[in-house]
Amino acid sequence: MVTLDTIRKPVADDLAAFDEMVSRHFADDDSPMAEMLRYALSSRGKGIRPLVVLLSAAINSPSGRAGKRASLAAMLAEMIHVASLIHDDVIDEADMRRGRQSLNARWQSKNAVIAGDYILARTISIGMSSAQYDLVQHIFGTIATLCEGEVLQGAHARRRDTSRKDYLEIIYKKTAALISVSASAGAMASGASREKVDTMRRYGEALGMAFQIQDDILDYTAADSATGKPSHNDLREGKITLPLIALLESADAARREELLALLDRCAEDERAVEELSRAVVEGGGTESAARTMHSYLNRAAALAADYEPSPLRDALVNLCAYVGQRDR
Ligand code: FPP
Ligand code: MG
Repeated sequence: MVTLDTIRKPVADDLAAFDEMVSRHFADDDSPMAEMLRYALSSRGKGIRPLVVLLSAAINSPSGRAGKRASLAAMLAEMIHVASLIHDDVIDEADMRRGRQSLNARWQSKNAVIAGDYILARTISIGMSSAQYDLVQHIFGTIATLCEGEVLQGAHARRRDTSRKDYLEIIYKKTAALISVSASAGAMASGASREKVDTMRRYGEALGMAFQIQDDILDYTAADSATGKPSHNDLREGKITLPLIALLESADAARREELLALLDRCAEDERAVEELSRAVVEGGGTESAARTMHSYLNRAAALAADYEPSPLRDALVNLCAYVGQRDR
């Protein structure tokens, strides 16, 4: 099984420079705000967005190195992501993130909202001071898209008619857009041609769609201890994601009604959550969602194959394999 450490290897130095840049710009004093930021940053997760920025920058650079503009782009993309998860946990009233208390659980929602705002404000300010306006304009455009995705998802929660098309639009906006922009920003940071920037945009979009579909599959199949957040939360929150959509599509009208009636009970009744999760897995919903995910991953890997063979190209292809295999 391909590990993230193997994928990170060709840009290990750039990732170290990125980490140093994040610590230098955020959480650098002993104020209460910095304490929250240090907490948020001390368990940042997989770091897919900065990794995508740096791999894309390196493969598109004649020197094969990512460089300063790419580190900046990586920081801007990652900090937008960090802020969005802090706000997402407030919106979802989630107590756990990555195996420990969410910011809202530890410091109350009112402080978590401000911490997310602060990270975003600081990120915008760092971007503007850098005067790298091409990157700044490109990356900051996704903030609005993320917000649209979150509100669209909220508008669909507890509705029974979320279609595959609705779902794909939601996950594009809430997840794939930022990963897509990370990939294209990396290429832009290295001064790549418009064609290559577009190849990377499409690579990141397909990878990001697959990433979120796998997240939604893991909500059905993974243990809490693996993901660091409670499983089956999507059902409790009334979110219809691809595994359930796939099962609903394959069901006849009567079965569909039964499944939707179960969904209606999931907010209060743990037995309904258990029964519906089992129905989705045993009825082939997660398997069908995995097929859709793999078709996105094949698309992403084929786009990476546009580049000459190299360890960086292998890393972009291996990242696709990692997203398909990941269990956390
Ligand atoms: C996680 O989804 C949430 C997102 C990927 C996007 C959240 C976006 C916002 C809150 C709006 C933008 C805000 C800012 C500050 C830019 P999920 O709830 O499905 O995943 P989870 O299970 O990990 O919580
Ligand atoms: Mg959430």
